[in-house]
Amino acid sequence: ENTQLKDIISHAKEYGFVFPSSEIYDGLQAVYDYGQMGVELKNNLKQVWWKSMTQLHQNIVGIDSAIFMQPDTWKASGHIDSFNDPMIDNKDSKKRYRADVLIEDKAAEYEKAGDKEKADALLKLMGHLLEKEDLTGVQELIIAEGIKCPISGTSNWTEVRQFNLMFSTQVGSVAEDSTTIYLRPETAQGIFVNFLNVQKTGRMKIPFGIAQIGKAFRNEIVARQFIFRMREFEQMEMQFFVRPGTEMEWYNKWRESRKKWHEVVGVPSEKLRFHDHEKLAHYANAAVDIEFEFPFGFKEVEGIHSRTDFDLKQHQELSRKKMQYFDNDLNEEGKPYGNYIPYVVETSVGADRLFLMTLCNAYQEEEITENEQTKTRTFLKFHPAIAPVKAAIFPLVRKDGLPEKAMEIFDDLKYDFNMIYEERDAIGKRYTRQDLIGTPFCIAVDYQTMEDNTVTVRERDSREQKRMNISELRQYIGDAVSM
Ligand code: GAP
Repeated sequence: ENTQLKDIISHAKEYGFVFPSSEIYDGLQAVYDYGQMGVELKNNLKQVWWKSMTQLHQNIVGIDSAIFMQPDTWKASGHIDSFNDPMIDNKDSKKRYRADVLIEDKAAEYEKAGDKEKADALLKLMGHLLEKEDLTGVQELIIAEGIKCPISGTSNWTEVRQFNLMFSTQVGSVAEDSTTIYLRPETAQGIFVNFLNVQKTGRMKIPFGIAQIGKAFRNEIVARQFIFRMREFEQMEMQFFVRPGTEMEWYNKWRESRKKWHEVVGVPSEKLRFHDHEKLAHYANAAVDIEFEFPFGFKEVEGIHSRTDFDLKQHQELSRKKMQYFDNDLNEEGKPYGNYIPYVVETSVGADRLFLMTLCNAYQEEEITENEQTKTRTFLKFHPAIAPVKAAIFPLVRKDGLPEKAMEIFDDLKYDFNMIYEERDAIGKRYTRQDLIGTPFCIAVDYQTMEDNTVTVRERDSREQKRMNISELRQYIGDAVSM
């Protein structure tokens, strides 16, 4: 299974999707750069999400708040006090691990061996200990379970300590005047502090949502599995403000509609599942993850949380600014609901994790027979709407006016679709190259084109070719790339 992840990582690098950051200096752990294909794929995913939130919902609008925020924000949100991971060191290898991840891995081992009951019991016990902040208990559990360091193979562990995940830096040039500020660990707080700005200026009526896409930063200790867990990543979050008491209804609605969204973007429903949280954060009264079956198992892609009025209430308390909304809809007694702090249902998905899911889901290897030879064809089966390149255009040969004709088609379609013009190498090789980056259509200009204005269109997944008139191309590609 992990060979599959390795294949995907090297494919991502070889075809310009993802590069290790500052690679010439041997990279920086858990930081990655998106290449020429990756940036197109990521932009498409973000755009589809943005549209599905803001354009398809009259009552959801977007914002773009700053990464830096007044540090009291993080006091109010609880991140300074409790955005911690429990860490443990192995005394022999001197390697540091997340204690909860070690235990989760052990539970996954039990589950794989068919003992789901034991796995669940272990996770429950861990949740209980962490909730009580019983770090000694967590250490004892690791020892009792015989969990060994993957590097040294010993269970010579230190005590468990809490480690804050926020990155900090200083503003102000003079030491005495400088203040510690943080790089935001989630985009959500930028939405909470702007709640009334947007509500008032946009004349929003509850229920309404605010969406945002932006970078977030976490000093993740366990950096593994490629872009699954990064130190600099992007979140796509939406806070949905509702009347208290209606939050479960909205929570259930968003939970279903977000799963459906992943299916529409091309993930089969059997590769997705819900994971309800048994242990809830202090601010939440319900939480669920949407998990995808990665090559390394089912893992979280998106979280849907019912956050109650925790954040707005905290900001009201610390900032001493009212965070209330006046609801003039009438209740059962015929009176306005009046002033209250809204409840919030949040949907939160990582753009990079969504990217990794999309790539894993699209990566296909199939046996095909061509000219009586069997070979493996690798291709990326993206939904055309998110494919980095929508169509490639090839003149069959580099003479007799075919390149000019192909270029004419390219120039006509390039305003509507991201296209590639390619005239080098044999046409079979050109098809292969487009398969490897997931281009849904290849258009070939041949001698017949010069006579009757028809081209062949080769479809990526079936490899079938059909002839159509040049004038039909825009509609044909357009239909396929719309969702
Ligand atoms: N505002 C809620 C929040 O931040 P979270 O579960 O911590 O909740 C939400 O994060 C989503 O952000 C996750 O489901 C995941 O997709 C993404 N995410 C979180 N940490 C990440 C990391 N270190 N690298 C990549 N994506 C991450």
